[in-house]
Amino acid sequence: MNMIDLRRDTEELERSDRDPDEQAIAATSATAPIAAAGLESRFVSCWFGTNKVLENVSLEMRPREVTALIGPSGCGKSTFLRTLNRMHELVATASLAGEVLLDGVDIYRGGVPVTDIRRRIGMVCQKPNPFPAMTVAENVVSGLRLSGLKVDRDARRALVESCLRRAGLWNEVRNRLGDPGRALSGGQQQRLCIARALAVSPQVLLMDEPCSALDPTSTRRIEETIGELAESVTIVIVTHNMQQAQRVSHRCAFFLAGENEPGRIVEWGTTEKMFAEPDDSRTLDYVRGRFG
Ligand SMILES: Nc1ncnc2c1ncn2[C@@H]1O[C@H](COP(=O)(O)OP(=O)(O)O)[C@@H](O)[C@H]1O
Ligand SMILES: [Mg+2]
Repeated sequence: MNMIDLRRDTEELERSDRDPDEQAIAATSATAPIAAAGLESRFVSCWFGTNKVLENVSLEMRPREVTALIGPSGCGKSTFLRTLNRMHELVATASLAGEVLLDGVDIYRGGVPVTDIRRRIGMVCQKPNPFPAMTVAENVVSGLRLSGLKVDRDARRALVESCLRRAGLWNEVRNRLGDPGRALSGGQQQRLCIARALAVSPQVLLMDEPCSALDPTSTRRIEETIGELAESVTIVIVTHNMQQAQRVSHRCAFFLAGENEPGRIVEWGTTEKMFAEPDDSRTLDYVRGRFG
């Protein structure tokens, strides 16, 4: 068990006595491209209260690859994803055992503040959730302030454009930067959330069923964006859409939970193998749609 003192990290973030030069350096390093990082879980188990929902999940998520987490509802995919950037511990009853290594350093014990971890490992949720009171442009840069980073006006403008371009949204919104984020279509809002996540230069992007609320055209657009981002960011995506897993991922991990048992990884491998000739017959049954 391994819950970290969140309050201490928050206080660190709010400290306003930082030297301006130091702040400028922090801002530059936060907005400069950083290399994608490898993420690896080792023997991760999770509980809500006394209910164990995941057992010994060990998984390598390689840099510049898209790893898809697949499996029936309730087998722990979202919970696992949330352990990967320390969002699991935001649930009061949650606990965890095991390690999550970001480029070899345990994000739970490595001494890196939790706010830094969540900046380096971004999250895009199932339902697009732009900040309703903010414009498109304000949404993109909203993470900077939360991370305690200051960027001047020109740099901000450049950052808004580059993140919207990377998220595949710039051409559609370049003349609507002052509109409320909520005025965009669902698919555009989701790409806005991707742009917002990119603005703090994450090395890893976690996506929990990012297309499940979207129409097929928007879904294809997000999938293209994922393909383009994978060159610079390590991506872990939960999806129930097997065609999507085949289209976007390099590797898949198949999760399964028995009745009243915690979820486990049945099998992990290249997407090609997982869909064509997996080792475990349950994997083939699942990817062929025979259950789940
Ligand atoms: N906040 C929570 N409190 C208690 N139990 C939870 C919570 N979130 C998820 N669970 C339980 O953990 C298990 C795994 O859920 P989840 O990770 O959401 O699965 P999946 O994403 O694969 O559908 C389920 O049994 C679910 O009921
Ligand atoms: Mg889920």
